[in-house]
Amino acid sequence: MKRQETIKAYAPATVSNLGSGFDIIGFPIRDAGDTVLLRKSDTPGMRIAGITGYTGVPWLPEKNTATFALMKFFERLEVDYALEVEIHKGVKPGSGVGSSASSSAAALVAANKWMGSPMSKMQLVELAAESEAMASGSSHADNVAPAILGGITIIRSYEPLDVIRIDPPAELWTVLLHPQIEVRTETSRKMLPESVPFKDAVCQWGNVAGLISGFYRSDYELIGRSMQDVIVEPVRSRLIPGYYELKETALQEGALNCSISGSGPSVMALCKGEEKAHAVCKAMEASYETTQVPFQTYVSPVNPQGAYIVDDDPGMGAAGQ
Ligand code: HSE
Repeated sequence: MKRQETIKAYAPATVSNLGSGFDIIGFPIRDAGDTVLLRKSDTPGMRIAGITGYTGVPWLPEKNTATFALMKFFERLEVDYALEVEIHKGVKPGSGVGSSASSSAAALVAANKWMGSPMSKMQLVELAAESEAMASGSSHADNVAPAILGGITIIRSYEPLDVIRIDPPAELWTVLLHPQIEVRTETSRKMLPESVPFKDAVCQWGNVAGLISGFYRSDYELIGRSMQDVIVEPVRSRLIPGYYELKETALQEGALNCSISGSGPSVMALCKGEEKAHAVCKAMEASYETTQVPFQTYVSPVNPQGAYIVDDDPGMGAAGQ
């Protein structure tokens, strides 16, 4: 089969954990993501030919999540490769919205299409999770699964990987406030407790069950109260200046609940409806201005769509911004 010269794919940023669902629940957002372009090369191997947008990701192919995932993909297929890779980072590394996952998801979806779709989406999720392990020291799939599959994804099991995708409730929106400080996933994972009291475990799995029930029933109040996280939030909130004040503001303004997005420092609030999400965002902005920490905000519906092939457009900068 004669392959085209280039192919490009886009994968969205993702919010994971959602409070109680640590390491197992996530969803993509709209209007922020990474784009990865693959180009045939005459030189065997893989080279990163360009990284645009946000900086701070490795140029070494073995260390970059996009190219690492590609290497695993071609190794798994037992196919030689000669590739140049261009990455447009629309998701800031270390922000808590799955920056490394966006890159690996886009790269894998592009490569899979290029090769005639030899792998299922679930196999791509598995490979992308290996890339997360390389980057953060632990294999978690709660960003890569929603980045590839879209919708709300639940990791039922890691060994073997078993992912459930559900359609998001129609009116589920999120507000993200990203304090402009970097929290490395590796660092915030090292803070996690090695064991948890039994009563906390019971509380947490009750909440996870409630969260999933809430999604299936589009019961927004149930979703909100089931985001309660008694294990991770108390520890990681220490990394985020003004976290509890911000959470209180979001709740007072009518958010369903508020928690840490991924490993932070972004803070996410879930809301019912676009109008409420914008009101909550405004209140959170006003509250956070008092901290003197610069920040950015996003308002987005929970996105049912995951990574996709981008039809030709004039340049790498055009997609995913
Ligand atoms: N579930 C992971 C964590 C996501 O919270 O460490 C990392 O982005």
